[in-house]
Amino acid sequence: MREILTELDDFFRYYKATVIGVRGIHRDNFERFPAPGNGELRALSFHVVFHDVLVFGDGGDFLTDIHPRIAALGERLAERLRGAGIEITGPGAEDAVAIVPYPDPRGTGGLEPVPPSQRRSRGFSVIPPRELRAHSPYYARLLDTYGPVFGVLTTNGTVVGPDGGLLGAAAAAAEAFPDPLRVVELGMGAGSTPLALAQRGKLAAYTGNDFSAEMIEHFRRSVAPELDALGVRAEAVLGSCLDAPLPPADLLCVGVYYQAQPSLVAARGAELAAALGESGVAVFQSGMLEDPLVTRLLYGDAAEHSAWPWYDPAFRLQNYFRWIGRHVVEQETILIATNSLNSFRAVSRTLDRASGFRDLSLS
Ligand SMILES: C[S@@+](CC[C@H](N)C(=O)[O-])C[C@H]1O[C@@H](n2cnc3c(N)ncnc32)[C@H](O)[C@@H]1O
Repeated sequence: MREILTELDDFFRYYKATVIGVRGIHRDNFERFPAPGNGELRALSFHVVFHDVLVFGDGGDFLTDIHPRIAALGERLAERLRGAGIEITGPGAEDAVAIVPYPDPRGTGGLEPVPPSQRRSRGFSVIPPRELRAHSPYYARLLDTYGPVFGVLTTNGTVVGPDGGLLGAAAAAAEAFPDPLRVVELGMGAGSTPLALAQRGKLAAYTGNDFSAEMIEHFRRSVAPELDALGVRAEAVLGSCLDAPLPPADLLCVGVYYQAQPSLVAARGAELAAALGESGVAVFQSGMLEDPLVTRLLYGDAAEHSAWPWYDPAFRLQNYFRWIGRHVVEQETILIATNSLNSFRAVSRTLDRASGFRDLSLS
């Protein structure tokens, strides 16, 4: 640990930044398939104050202009750590490091902004349930709890689905509401959320969205027929979550990439709330446990972020929802948001019971 700290102090000094805290956790290595070593990941979060508040750009959209610069800094850090013999990327990595950036309220400019990352995923493949179970204790547990769901592997070698946090939150909503749910899902991936709900007899209708043609094709070929056989009306719409249809719903699941969520909420927060009406609930899987930036942008104190020139208070769910809660579900961070105190209480109670407490901190 001491070695990493010395290496990183030096790294951040170059960017006029100070490390103010480090937090470590152990969790299942669910983003690698199969997971190397004993299947666990050691993840460190570096909380860092940036004295140059223009380091990630002086404005623009979080998804397209700001986050690619934060990601690029993460890539530079990975390179630096690789030089010191610590591997945090690639199929064999058993460590992860996240930068949690804070702006110095008295910060100024001075440096050239970090150039945006060019890393792009070129597509997805689907992992069938049997294979998921055979090579991952984490996913075997999810399959035991939520039924046969699919894995989603990107061409970068990262597993991005199923989302355990969303499955757990959807199951909690199913338990909290007496009747089958009308569900809208943005970033539906391989369609595991509707499958899990339908297998419990708790799905009335489903509108999914994804910007990947492969995911839509998989849905039409393998998921829609199963839902149809269970009597569920379902459709999947190709395109960005910024343009997706938002019919009236009891449950809105947001599984789009974390970095897309602040821009989505700023652009469509009022529409999301309107689709949910007086009793519906939104669930956002908003970040890895070790990487809370997006969670804090969606549900945090504006004062913490307002010195960034790109910060938009419209990112905050509090603008559109009266009741918001943060939970750890299946080792992922979940936000629930609603305008109904009854729905909030019912879903929160079920989630509290389901997730319990397991201390994941590093000793
Ligand atoms: C983390 S995966 C979701 C996995 C899903 N919950 C499952 O169980 O398979 C994110 C999905 O969101 C899609 N996505 C990411 N950003 C998006 C956006 N801006 N608009 C629409 N879809 C998006 C990706 O193509 C991917 O399928």
